[in-house]
Amino acid sequence: MNFDGRDIVSIKDFSKAELERIMSVSDLMEPLSREGSDILKGKIMATLFFEPSTRTRISFESAMLRLGGNYIGFAEPKLTSVEKGENLVDTVRVVENYANLIILRHPLEGAARLASEYVNIPIINAGSGAEEHPTQALLDLYTIKREMGKIDRLTIALIGDLRYGRTVHSLAYALSLFDVKLYLISPDLLKMRKEVLEEINGKIEVFQETDLKKVLPKLDVIYMTRIQKERFPDLKDYELVKGSYRLSRDDLKFVKRKTIVMHPLPRVDEITFDVDDTHHARYFKQAFYGLLVRMSLLSLILGGIK
Ligand code: NCD
Repeated sequence: MNFDGRDIVSIKDFSKAELERIMSVSDLMEPLSREGSDILKGKIMATLFFEPSTRTRISFESAMLRLGGNYIGFAEPKLTSVEKGENLVDTVRVVENYANLIILRHPLEGAARLASEYVNIPIINAGSGAEEHPTQALLDLYTIKREMGKIDRLTIALIGDLRYGRTVHSLAYALSLFDVKLYLISPDLLKMRKEVLEEINGKIEVFQETDLKKVLPKLDVIYMTRIQKERFPDLKDYELVKGSYRLSRDDLKFVKRKTIVMHPLPRVDEITFDVDDTHHARYFKQAFYGLLVRMSLLSLILGGIK
């Protein structure tokens, strides 16, 4: 198993053993996340974000600093030559000269794959349109493992925007390597993409539902998502489905004692604030695990950890 210099374009590029390795290195990162280290001293990471981000960009930057490296980049392409018409390939070919790896978020599906074909340094996909968000799936898996003690034999529901939400695409692919039951709960308009269903059907048991309340008592993991307003070609459709699911403290009366509630964040109105201080809520913990998983990935890919 060799991660040295590897791209992370799709979660589908990983075997189950590789996912387990990334998670066990994430465990080792917890003390370093507090004390710091110089594992990646002298290395530079470029964060190129063509779409808004809070957690993904900042947790990657924090991960790099905790490992003793540095970062450069932009969070707003309007201030760069992209505004003058520079294309993505030219941008990454130039940045390749200034950094040891690139973290890329872009509105176009296939953007990370394209970039990886033109540069020799590793490209990490931090979100490619509605397609995939592989590092989010890694931290989601890690959260389930840490908080439930296992991934196998759990019943997990992905809820909300399964059509335009990239995190649920990557997470569904990743979960299909484990022994889980997967409920896909969405309005009809926002059903899971066909290409994802084709990939996971047959590997795990998959149930498609529209009613969340009905399945709540069966679930070990409730993974809520935001309806991705910005990706709707027609805002009239958004109006039809906005606010489809809203998980509140009252709903949690019907779940198992150990059930956890996750969300990639940002939340809009899918989880009411009164859930935050229940023992089920894990979304802020999940954001912390994102730091550990990103430290793990940077260490493995830039050769700090063999
Ligand atoms: C997600 C994204 O960008 O896809 N955010 C994140 O990275 N945690 C989810 C979202 O925007 O709804």
